[in-house]
Amino acid sequence: MKIERFGVEEWMNAYEENARFNIAETCVESLTVEELLDLSGGKESFLEELLSRKLTYGEIPGTFDLRAHISRLYETLDEKNILLAHGGIGANFLALFTLVEPGDRVVAVKPTYQQLYSVPEALGADVRILRLLPENGFLPDLEDLERLAGDRCKLIVLNNPNNPTGALMTGSFLKEVARIAERSGAWILCDEVYRGLEHEPGVHTPSIADLYERGVATGSLSKVFSLAGLRLGWVAGPGDFIRECFIRRDYTTISCGMIDEMLALRAFSFKDRILGRNLPLVRKNALLLDKWVSGEKHLSYVRPKAGTTAFIRYGFPIPSEDFCRGLFEFNGAFLVPGKAFDFEGWFRMGYSCSTETLEKGLKAVSDYLKILGEEAAGPQGRSIRL
Ligand SMILES: Cc1ncc(COP(=O)(O)O)c(C=O)c1O
Repeated sequence: MKIERFGVEEWMNAYEENARFNIAETCVESLTVEELLDLSGGKESFLEELLSRKLTYGEIPGTFDLRAHISRLYETLDEKNILLAHGGIGANFLALFTLVEPGDRVVAVKPTYQQLYSVPEALGADVRILRLLPENGFLPDLEDLERLAGDRCKLIVLNNPNNPTGALMTGSFLKEVARIAERSGAWILCDEVYRGLEHEPGVHTPSIADLYERGVATGSLSKVFSLAGLRLGWVAGPGDFIRECFIRRDYTTISCGMIDEMLALRAFSFKDRILGRNLPLVRKNALLLDKWVSGEKHLSYVRPKAGTTAFIRYGFPIPSEDFCRGLFEFNGAFLVPGKAFDFEGWFRMGYSCSTETLEKGLKAVSDYLKILGEEAAGPQGRSIRL
């Protein structure tokens, strides 16, 4: 099977380890095991339970209690509608592997997490790309969507909130998308790994799994819960569909890690405390970022409404990989080039790290922009080798 190389993941693999100011990360500042146990209390009893655990495969679809907790993130689902997977990435793969057959028409958006269009392509689908444009606030154009879906579309793939742009589709917008899907006979798969990180207090994004009969959502503990190291995600959808996923998952996963599930259960039991740490951090950093972008004359963006990342346009005629590599070599600040999303002239910033890292990272990018600006202004300016 042929597959495109995964641009973002390859870029992260190459540079992340040695970054001085990592402002490319998409998780809300990750928790240590100790921080998680301190947030939830009862550290001693947890460790005692951990030591006594016999390391079997555990409950194959994921522990009942954990699936029950996850199902409460949805209005209409219960534990039978949830299947655990190896991260959101495993959940997306499983859902796509279950839904997509060679020749199927699939509509997917760009920019987004590349897995969502490259895997259907690799599975032999006829993938039609709907480009999300800044002038539409990076929301899908519904007329274009309807045209691309036609009358026999198998699947529409979305990401809400969106990585990299932070755009957010509201419930009423999603219902419009569902009407288009229904007319075309399509399923909708919505990657919702950033759902729950809305910037405006009181705004809650509904899940496609609650809005549409053939709606499938994927979620994860990596971003909203700051627990990427657990490698736990899930597929949420109609019972029949989950059973189909289960049949395929027997070939790839058997079960997820028992210790990971124990820690995940703890995180869900104390979800409000984790969100009480994470939401204020994300919102505060988003404001800092907004102020910074407004003060940088070479930058512009569509202000993110949710999630952990922003997609920023820079005003220099430099390919985005050169721009980001130049920055990294200049002072160790680390961003992701727009090229990884098939958008030249842009970069992705992850602003949900610690506020200290963000502030240092923004300053480092400002220093770089200043020199690029001087260089662009005339021959006597300083020079950076790109
Ligand atoms: C939109 C989206 N989906 C899925 C993933 C995979 O994350 P994980 O497997 O850690 O849950 C990512 C990671 O960056 C992402 O941005």
